[in-house]
Amino acid sequence: MKRAKNVHPASARSLRAAAARLRRGELVAFPTETVYGLGANALDEKAVAKIFAAKGRPPDNPIIVHVSDQKMLRKVARRVPARAKKLIARFWPGPLTLILSKKSLVPSLVTAGLDTVAVRMPQGLARDLVRLAAVPIAAPSANVSGRPSPTTAAHVAEDFPDVFVLDGGPTAHGLESTVVALVPYPVVLRQGALSEESLRKMIPGLRRSPSGGRHAAQSPGTRYVHYAPSRPLILFLRKSSLLSYAKAHPKALVLCSTSLSSLFPKQRILPLGDSPEEIARNLFAALRTRRRGTELLALAIPRRGIGRAVMDRLTRAATRIVP
Ligand code: TXA
Ligand code: MG
Repeated sequence: MKRAKNVHPASARSLRAAAARLRRGELVAFPTETVYGLGANALDEKAVAKIFAAKGRPPDNPIIVHVSDQKMLRKVARRVPARAKKLIARFWPGPLTLILSKKSLVPSLVTAGLDTVAVRMPQGLARDLVRLAAVPIAAPSANVSGRPSPTTAAHVAEDFPDVFVLDGGPTAHGLESTVVALVPYPVVLRQGALSEESLRKMIPGLRRSPSGGRHAAQSPGTRYVHYAPSRPLILFLRKSSLLSYAKAHPKALVLCSTSLSSLFPKQRILPLGDSPEEIARNLFAALRTRRRGTELLALAIPRRGIGRAVMDRLTRAATRIVP
């Protein structure tokens, strides 16, 4: 496919150009290990306002601040409790976002008026970019609000043809970071690329926010439209119900593991891979598919490891859930 005009392969030069843009108060989209982010200088309120405008993001939805090192963390967070220090030592840089008390230097636009700030230290290219920019970078996922998060530079260009995009190839995890709050008690606010099981080894009393659990299954998308697929998505909790529905709807497009695809000889298939990690990596691209098909059919996977985050996204993306 032809590269869009604002997509720049990652190199020392394009990274410097991106950092300079961020310092000038412009937006830059960049790959992280989770999904692509739409970044701006977190300390520049006008720059952050551009993120909300570009995405059409509701102003009550706060943005994650990305830091490259501990010194930058101290710039935005007032306190780093002992439990946070433990998690940071183990999981940063990586797909873990921590909710911490915020310093007044951080514009309230970033935190949607909350006195807390969400912070994470990303890996690789994203961290290099933050380091070069030398300012904390506010970055939500680089999609128009309500669309699936982007896992390639082409996805970003689809949503934001005029934004400078650093292209680092497909992202490693394919799903967003896990968001954890520690005060007043440790709780997972959003399931993500870092599994709850790994977190629980360090914080045995970790709780789970109801919106990330079963309640969401009963009423997907009641709070915000999220991860809206290119056509209606039906999520099946059992293989047998998927099989009989697919038989009656031969023009539907089936998203399924590679190993199950032989069960649908007459159907168009979008194989997601077999391990939960592969499924996570391929899911958002599948939700953006332009292939023909009346609707998308997906099968539930076990809520274990990254499977929990996969199910959270599928549940929110689903138009309908069939037991
Ligand atoms: O992997 C990721 O986290 C990606 C990459 C770009 O870093 N970013 C991302 O951002 O997914 P976004 O804006 O799509 O999701 C941010 C999540 C939202 O659920 C938001 O409500 C929550 O973090 N959040 C941000 N600040 C918060 C705060 N102060 N308190 C509670 N939740 C917060
Ligand atoms: Mg998002």
